[in-house]
Amino acid sequence: MSKAMMARLDRLLANLGYGSRKDVQALVASGKVMLDGKVLKDSGARIAVDATLPERMTIRGLPVDPPAPLVLIMHKPLGVVCSHKEDGEKIYDLLPRRWRLRDPGLSTVGRLDKDTSGLILITDDGDFLHRVISPKRHVPKTYLATLDRPLAGTEAEVFAAGTLMLDGEEKPLLPAQLDVVDERTARLTITEGRYHQVRRMFAAVGNHVVGLHRERIGGLILPADLEPGQHRILSAEEAEGVFADV
Ligand code: URA
Repeated sequence: MSKAMMARLDRLLANLGYGSRKDVQALVASGKVMLDGKVLKDSGARIAVDATLPERMTIRGLPVDPPAPLVLIMHKPLGVVCSHKEDGEKIYDLLPRRWRLRDPGLSTVGRLDKDTSGLILITDDGDFLHRVISPKRHVPKTYLATLDRPLAGTEAEVFAAGTLMLDGEEKPLLPAQLDVVDERTARLTITEGRYHQVRRMFAAVGNHVVGLHRERIGGLILPADLEPGQHRILSAEEAEGVFADV
């Protein structure tokens, strides 16, 4: 059960991106906002807000957007960027337009390169985000890497040693697990999130990553039926599954 917080209706709807305080006051006055089947007329009314709100509140006949805290699992397609600032198509462009106006805003939990596909979490919950990326937690992330050259056979040992230094860094990488899939494909599980880490690890052993896909973060696995570009809202319990022992 999620805990209900109280919020003023106009503030709640403005923070969900339905418009300015003035816009949402007009929306309420026009009778387009309903709660438990009744029209809400007072935009200053205090509303109990929890994850069940979209089952109880409609705006112009449609379920209200999910309130914060929100955690999404997305299948990031190739070619989109995770940063708000970088040029090019953004991962946020794949979400409903109104969500860009949410406050608190949505951010990716860590980043995947433009040329990497797979599991990414998106949230407006700063505490959750920091717990997942915290270097203290060592949440494992598993990637399927396609390589330019055949594996030499020594990579698993090199990556597991905990001594590999990446170019320009001063601290060796923590041990990582490599499982060979075939001559040019390997599954790599790392517990850190250094810049371009997987690509740089293979570069350090004389190879080159030509395809990279994240399959898993902690206890969360990319669902097979989640197509590139699609997302799903996780319940609080599902989101916490990222910390499950795996
Ligand atoms: N390592 C990389 O090199 N790229 C990613 O996108 C993720 C991990």
